[in-house]
Amino acid sequence: MPTTTPAMFTFPLGDDAVLIPRTPAITEAFHELLVANHDRLIRWNRMDPAPPVLEDTRSKLELTGKAWLEGTQLPVVIAVPQQRGWRLVGASALRLNDHGHSGEIGYWIDADFEGQGLVTRTVSALLDHGFGPLGLHRITLGTDAANRRSRALAHRLGFTQEGLLREANPTPDGRHDEVLYGLLSSEWNQRRA
Ligand SMILES: CC(C)(COP(=O)(O)OP(=O)(O)OC[C@H]1O[C@@H](n2cnc3c(N)ncnc32)[C@H](O)[C@@H]1OP(=O)(O)O)[C@@H](O)C(=O)NCCC(=O)NCCS
Repeated sequence: MPTTTPAMFTFPLGDDAVLIPRTPAITEAFHELLVANHDRLIRWNRMDPAPPVLEDTRSKLELTGKAWLEGTQLPVVIAVPQQRGWRLVGASALRLNDHGHSGEIGYWIDADFEGQGLVTRTVSALLDHGFGPLGLHRITLGTDAANRRSRALAHRLGFTQEGLLREANPTPDGRHDEVLYGLLSSEWNQRRA
């Protein structure tokens, strides 16, 4: 059985899932999720190919928690309800740059929870917040050109392909092209209207 965790605060993503701030309070459950998905994540996300170590996971969560407090990042985990607490199933973050005028989004989900629309709903919530209260002008995302699911998600949410970085993505099976997508505040507001 996956470890479950309590949460100080949850943001509802419909009836069947929530977002939880990504802080050291969830270290054990988040580490378990990372370990379970490590092999597929190193294929698509830029991360250390060595297996995750609990203390490193805690340190990274301390950094995301600090970034949250400093207002430079909105880092969340996706969780589903269990009998006792929450089961963590994925992660996403909106990182602010350009003195708070633009942002960059990243995401991943546990293999067993792919294909249910949970990431689309998560990223939509972050886009609503980024283009709403945070007042961002544009939000970008970068993904491996061969990452069919990630590119489908970008298209589903109305992102426009703006560029292609040749052989920019180092992966365990060689360097891949990276596709850059962008979305403007006006485009998102039009979709939401
Ligand atoms: C990329 C990744 C996050 C996409 O996850 P996903 O589950 O496919 O994304 P979504 O949440 O948008 O789900 C979309 C699927 O759910 C379906 N779906 C069901 N209900 C839905 C809803 N309410 N809204 C949108 N889609 C819904 C869609 O039809 C689609 O199904 P399909 O893939 O069979 O066509 C995931 O594949 C992943 O974590 N990969 C490994 C790491 C990675 O690539 N990270 C990205 C690096 S840039």
